[in-house]
Amino acid sequence: MHVLNYLWYSIVTASLVHALPLPGDSAVGVIWTFPNGTWIENLAVRQNGEVLCTSLTKAALYMVNPFQHTAQLVHQFDQGDDLLGITEVENDVFAIVSANISFTTSTAMPGSAALWRVDMAAWEQGMPNAVTLVSRLLDVGLPDGIVALPDQLGLALLADAAKGRVWKVDVWTGEHSVAFQSELFRPNTSVLPLGIDGLSIWKDNLFFTNIARSVFGHVPISQNGSATGPIQQIAETPFGDDFAIAVDGTAYVVGDNTLFGVDLEGSAKILAGGPDDLTLEGATSAQFGRTSMDDGVLYIGTNGGLLSPVDGEIRGGQLLAINTKLFD
Ligand SMILES: *[C@@H]1O[C@H](CO)[C@@H](O)[C@H](O)[C@H]1NC(C)=O
Ligand SMILES: *[C@@H]1O[C@H](CO)[C@@H](O)[C@H](O)[C@H]1NC(C)=O
Ligand SMILES: *[C@@H]1O[C@H](CO)[C@@H](O)[C@H](O)[C@H]1NC(C)=O
Ligand SMILES: *[C@@H]1O[C@H](CO)[C@@H](O)[C@H](O)[C@H]1NC(C)=O
Repeated sequence: MHVLNYLWYSIVTASLVHALPLPGDSAVGVIWTFPNGTWIENLAVRQNGEVLCTSLTKAALYMVNPFQHTAQLVHQFDQGDDLLGITEVENDVFAIVSANISFTTSTAMPGSAALWRVDMAAWEQGMPNAVTLVSRLLDVGLPDGIVALPDQLGLALLADAAKGRVWKVDVWTGEHSVAFQSELFRPNTSVLPLGIDGLSIWKDNLFFTNIARSVFGHVPISQNGSATGPIQQIAETPFGDDFAIAVDGTAYVVGDNTLFGVDLEGSAKILAGGPDDLTLEGATSAQFGRTSMDDGVLYIGTNGGLLSPVDGEIRGGQLLAINTKLFD
């Protein structure tokens, strides 16, 4: 069914040249637009509601206040430390992964992956002491999504999009080992050599996207992050990149300039955007708000069309917001 919807919308948008807004598009608000050429790759929301945005092209971490519509630089990393996944590992302390990424080939320079710790509780503007290089991750291919294990303080699972595996990482030492690997995690084409990408844990399951294979899937895990069941596909989400899971278990998956809603039965439908629609152009990441003021609000980071611009023009990446309660 979702495949039919997808095709139908593709045909409609192609024929009308995005003259009409698609369902849900009017619900999408712009929180912040970064300068042209800024690719926002991943998001983490602080307890106070501020949204941390990693940038792949600027090797920078930004912080956006979604209530005041303001943004500031948290830290400028060195060239070659292009930022990818981010996750909160302790109260207001975040682990971030980076690598030297080539955009023309979608690959990372071998040996360039690294793990960082950013202590936002200790952070003050202009003071770099809150940022620590934990370790280089020499055998990690292309580090992408990272998620802290909720019941194992200091441990996180890290998606390796190039090698098609999930690593278990000690975020204080950088020590890591393969947690699991699967054909479902691997890239399936050399044109886009990226497999497992976004990660999230919900009710003793690790959920993941595989971008090239367009797979949204899961694996049941124990508290220590080991698999307790088979790795399985749940739904097909075209070029699904990242996602967030709502309290009711609905997964909001972004990819291919589109927001998909995947329910617990695995049926996927388009909620906003579309392959040829500018509204969610270059959507890379999704996270829910954490305060009473933005309960049910899904934040979406974008790359401004840097990988494949919808209308041929590249823009600054954005932080968008969409009230998912509108979809009930
Ligand atoms: C990043 O990798 C490229 C090769 O892909 C290399 O030419 C460049 O020097 C690297 N940059 C840094 C800062 O390491
Ligand atoms: C990779 O998987 C996707 C989704 O199943 C499929 O559409 C695509 O054709 C595959 N690519 C190759 C090169 O097999
Ligand atoms: C992880 O949990 C599983 C299942 O609960 C258990 O069998 C395994 O021994 C644990 N591994 C470690 C390293 O604690
Ligand atoms: C962004 O920069 C690109 C490349 O430099 C340029 O082609 C494009 O017109 C710029 N877009 C905007 C909105 O200024």
